[in-house]
Amino acid sequence: MTHTASLRIGLFGFGTVGQGLYDVLQRTPLLRTEIARICVRDRFKQRSAPARLLTFDRDEILDDPDIDVVVELIDDPDAAFDIVSRALESGKAAVSANKRMIASRLPELLELQSRTGMPFLYEASTCGSIPIIRNLEEYYDNDLLRSVRAIVNGTTNYILTALHSPHTGGYGEALAGAQRLGFAESDPTLDVEGYDAAFKTTIIAAHAFGVVLNPSQVVRRGITAITPYDVSVARQLTCSIKLLSTVQLHGDSLSVMALPAFTPNGLHLASIQNEMNAVQLTAAFSDAQLLVGKGAGGGPTASAVLSDIAAIRHTYRYEYKKMQQPVRPTVDHGIEVSVYVRASAAILREVPFRSIEVDHRGITGSYVIGRIVLDDLHRCSAFLDPSVFIAIVHDG
Ligand SMILES: NC(=O)c1ccc[n+]([C@@H]2O[C@H](COP(=O)([O-])OP(=O)(O)OC[C@H]3O[C@@H](n4cnc5c(N)ncnc54)[C@H](OP(=O)(O)O)[C@@H]3O)[C@@H](O)[C@H]2O)c1
Repeated sequence: MTHTASLRIGLFGFGTVGQGLYDVLQRTPLLRTEIARICVRDRFKQRSAPARLLTFDRDEILDDPDIDVVVELIDDPDAAFDIVSRALESGKAAVSANKRMIASRLPELLELQSRTGMPFLYEASTCGSIPIIRNLEEYYDNDLLRSVRAIVNGTTNYILTALHSPHTGGYGEALAGAQRLGFAESDPTLDVEGYDAAFKTTIIAAHAFGVVLNPSQVVRRGITAITPYDVSVARQLTCSIKLLSTVQLHGDSLSVMALPAFTPNGLHLASIQNEMNAVQLTAAFSDAQLLVGKGAGGGPTASAVLSDIAAIRHTYRYEYKKMQQPVRPTVDHGIEVSVYVRASAAILREVPFRSIEVDHRGITGSYVIGRIVLDDLHRCSAFLDPSVFIAIVHDG
């Protein structure tokens, strides 16, 4: 592939993002990029792409020597991994948006890239249109980065924003609203239980600090237990509840979480509304910087895919520079954090707080705000209890 020749793309998937990419490429002729073939599953669906481009046989793309780049935009993580690995093995560059596949199979994907020498880019997998991975790779390729705190899931941010509105009808109504507007899937489990955030947090940890984790190592909890009572307590503390992905250095160790958080209203992250995403990067001398943008949707996500395709034309690849450092931080959740736990009095008694700042027992609800070792919180029975709401309390 030369810089002047047209780039030939084999596209897998023609759903929200695949179709978005097709539309975006029609409007960017200067990129000299042509979709040569589109592989989909359902033979009977109406498509806006010409029938001559469609195939139902993945080999027609993977075995075609004239296809330079495979863009994988399907919703099946196992099939996506097969497609990406076969593409790289056969000397094609690959682009993906599949955070679940990337986070769960990162060690294999690193090995494949190193063995084949082929680039694999996935900017769209984390915060859609926000250019976070390449920023971490290129701008923050030194040891000055201290933490990344981010709102990476638009569905939960939409629900949490609705719960903070004066006319809220509670979690169920907010979720139904998100589903009506197409922000939440009919099965929203991956979003509302924090799994999607944990996948993206895993990808951020790899590029920000060179640490390769299994997504199960992220301390994760979702927002399904939240009630208007929790929102009213946050409001009294002049905070907004956000589902925050946090990857933070503490000396040589790293904490990695995807948890609801009482976020002080003075912080920029607290003001990120509805389905928007945001990433706050804190480094030694630049202090905090904030990137805000659309984390999902056909056009915004396709724009990140397009940027990866353009980067491949310029022979760009991730170098995973932080993984080459002689000393890398190790994940250690022995740090103390401030946490809000709303539960019955019996459950609250079992939570192993180190110290208690607020102990409130009332008719409408009981909660404790206290200091606790993150590992102890993660292991205590309240953490697994679906009726209990837990949020980190940020001090700024
Ligand atoms: N939607 C977003 O805003 C967004 C944002 C960031 C990242 N992503 C990621 O982008 C990817 C695509 O998401 P999406 O929302 O566009 O999904 P989608 O609307 O559900 O579309 C999925 C597409 O994949 C095709 N497909 C599924 N399995 C296939 C297989 N084995 N071989 C060939 N085609 C197959 C489907 O074919 P049929 O049309 O024949 O059913 C469909 O066209 C996912 O990994 C998602 O996590 C999405």
